[in-house]
Amino acid sequence: MAKFPGIKDLKDLTSTIADSISQAPARQISIPEHYDYEPGHDHEFMARALKLAEMGRFSTHPNPRVGCVITKNGVVVGEGFHRVTGQAHAEIHALKQAGKHADGATLYVNLEPCCHHGRTPPCTDAIIKAGIRRVVIAMEDPNPKVNRAGISALQNAGIEVETGINTDSAHWLNRGYVKRIMTGTPWVTLKIAVSLDGKTAMENGESQWITSEQAREDAHRLRASSSAILTGIGTVLRDDPQMTARPASENNRSALAERQPLRVIVDSRLSTPTDARILSQPGEVLIVTSPSELSDAALYTQTNVEVTGCEMTGGSINLMALMEMLGEREVNNLMLEAGARLSGSMLQARLVDEIVVYMAPDLLGSSARGMFRVPGLDSIADKLVLEFRDVRRVGRDMRLTLSVKSDK
Ligand SMILES: NC(=O)c1ccc[n+]([C@@H]2O[C@H](COP(=O)([O-])OP(=O)(O)OC[C@H]3O[C@@H](n4cnc5c(N)ncnc54)[C@H](OP(=O)(O)O)[C@@H]3O)[C@@H](O)[C@H]2O)c1
Repeated sequence: MAKFPGIKDLKDLTSTIADSISQAPARQISIPEHYDYEPGHDHEFMARALKLAEMGRFSTHPNPRVGCVITKNGVVVGEGFHRVTGQAHAEIHALKQAGKHADGATLYVNLEPCCHHGRTPPCTDAIIKAGIRRVVIAMEDPNPKVNRAGISALQNAGIEVETGINTDSAHWLNRGYVKRIMTGTPWVTLKIAVSLDGKTAMENGESQWITSEQAREDAHRLRASSSAILTGIGTVLRDDPQMTARPASENNRSALAERQPLRVIVDSRLSTPTDARILSQPGEVLIVTSPSELSDAALYTQTNVEVTGCEMTGGSINLMALMEMLGEREVNNLMLEAGARLSGSMLQARLVDEIVVYMAPDLLGSSARGMFRVPGLDSIADKLVLEFRDVRRVGRDMRLTLSVKSDK
């Protein structure tokens, strides 16, 4: 880090870059008087807004990821992104940076601007006051407090509004937020490490480590961008995992350590050991158990640990009720990291949206454990249908990203 005086590690560097983008004062910019408008530029500037929005992926939870670009006669005069819930939205950072250049300018934002008093004042008021002439929006905000009311507020003030630019990318970036707002349940990503022969642990349960350090570092980034991590009591008892987002080495710190996702344990008989490592790490823990076990909840004296009861079905936690409980707790993106039993049950209940498989080029043999226990698939017609979204190499392993199709 010698090249960056005063910056100790990558976490500092991320904050410094963020500050220079979002909090910089109005710039001295020379703007051409005439500008031949080309529609293609809308896609370019929106792509930049989406890139900025992504910079908030570790920190905006439970808010959506939003980036904003302001242009005047084809020149970028302001940029910003939403960084932390409760702090200024992307539009406000970009307007501040644009200063007087915002008058008559075009504003690009990947999500419809808010028009209500939430944790911060309405962005539509600030956009109107700044004299913005045209607003380009990638997607409407499904939040019932906004849902086209932001667009109407801008139009009523005489601002030209265009929607539908780079909409698919905008949906994908905020798929967790969109799913929770529209269905009340989180977007579920099942993450699993397997060998080439599809095994996740040896017969005796040993599974550390199947994949390389690079793959595990990548998985830590996935954890960090999740609102919560869900695991089963089987994994807690066998592996005593920490389930935190952390860099693979102390020399490689990053924004990962800024916020720990909520750790959720499915444990219907309340058998999580009180000294389990998952309970003593930074961040909150939620143990989900049968209401009949709640009398023992006081055994967990740690202030970051909550024990809660959940509806039961056939002696097990009702997984749909659990998803609704997590939705009420504003969990947008849920990462499922469990063994074959809980992962299989989540798949069988059609509660998984996406699967990320880290596959090592090794064989663990026929007695090792399989990926998912999904009973009741007796013929090819019963198969669960998945679709590859992305395939790439991470270190010596492969990372396969698949969408789970809701209908066959
Ligand atoms: N390779 C990998 O990526 C990876 C990742 C994680 C774990 N693992 C390995 O997986 C092994 C543990 O697997 P596991 O299957 O024993 O444990 P698990 O799936 O983590 O947890 C199983 C527990 O989840 C609960 N559960 C399962 N189905 C449920 C349902 N339908 N409804 C509600 N609760 C349900 C049950 O506990 P209750 O009924 O008591 O609630 C069950 O005993 C370990 O060896 C670990 O190393 C591998």
